[in-house]
Amino acid sequence: EPILASSLGFCKTVPVLRGAPLHCCLPAPTRKPIRFKFPTCANGGPPVVRERKPVHVVQNDPEYVRKYNLAYARMKALPDSDPRSFLNQWRVHCSFCNEAFKQRELPGPLGKATGVLLQIHYSWTFLPWHRMYLYYHERILGDLIGDPTFALPFWNWDNQLDPIAGMMPFMFLPNFPVNNSALTDVNRNPNHMPPKILYLGYNGKLEAEGKQNLTDEQIRYENLCVMYNQVVTKISARSFLGGPYVVGTNNTAATVNVAAGETPGESGGMEIVHNVAHEWTGLINNPAHPDNEDMGNFIYAARDPIFYTHHSNVDRLWDVWKTIPDKVTIAGNRQRVDYTSSDFLDSEFTFFDENQDMVIVTIRDSLDSSKLGYKYADVSESDNLWINYEP
Ligand code: C2O
Repeated sequence: EPILASSLGFCKTVPVLRGAPLHCCLPAPTRKPIRFKFPTCANGGPPVVRERKPVHVVQNDPEYVRKYNLAYARMKALPDSDPRSFLNQWRVHCSFCNEAFKQRELPGPLGKATGVLLQIHYSWTFLPWHRMYLYYHERILGDLIGDPTFALPFWNWDNQLDPIAGMMPFMFLPNFPVNNSALTDVNRNPNHMPPKILYLGYNGKLEAEGKQNLTDEQIRYENLCVMYNQVVTKISARSFLGGPYVVGTNNTAATVNVAAGETPGESGGMEIVHNVAHEWTGLINNPAHPDNEDMGNFIYAARDPIFYTHHSNVDRLWDVWKTIPDKVTIAGNRQRVDYTSSDFLDSEFTFFDENQDMVIVTIRDSLDSSKLGYKYADVSESDNLWINYEP
């Protein structure tokens, strides 16, 4: 049976290593939840397309940075009771990703709560859930600045052609020439600031032992290799998206520590690569921050605005994965396709939209990003470098 993931009803606090458990429950909807509809423009035609571009490109446009910062400043200024507030946007991630809610099951539009906790990482819900999370996050930001074309940027860390694409994006760092005060975050690894580039084989423990001293050139080759192994060779839905997650499955471990390599459930290749960028960005091996916050721990990760630009790239790579040409096809059929079972397609999530309505979304709704009114700028030149890389 498909998972019905809703923030209605039961919600508990989330334990952390040090200090009091965190409250990341969401406000109750003030109106009856509504069903998802694909976006259209006012006259019912196709929506205005939001184009998500690489951070290392858009950060050169002062007008884009100004709008992006303004959108986050306004989001951060909303009251705690408003589901669109930055606090509640963080809580969406913390609650669905750290077992604050229980799984629900049929019947009924939102199902009745079961006894099993909900965890949308480590399974096939990982990519669809984060896609729809970003979809609403982007719409809320655009709405707050009155710009229906506003699009999140993507942190193109898989790009080994551009010298700065893999660095922590400048527009999120202090001392940026345009006001970006709503985009900074103090809990980032000071040892990984530019000109350091993200190493997709990063391991914080090895680094602490002084065993990860690679040159940039070595990192770039290793990165191509990781992308090849975790994306190109992961042809089946299961190997790329992750394993099944259905009602009653326990995917949860209240003390999951990604930094320590624990992965309950079955993560796909995309999720595994994604974890590395989290760990590399957050504070790690810092006694004052035993939880590796912010980016290095799912509980805190969405407190850092970099989170959304990181996930924008993860979401883009899901689309890229579907287009990778394979030398071998089964009876002429494309092989890189999403799961087609009802357990997958009919899984449901709830999010709050830009009107503060709770919306019920299914995985079925999430699979074709072109119907969701956004697209990614073409960076196929750098994608092809790892797609065609054979270690
Ligand atoms: Cu829900 Cu990047 O994690």
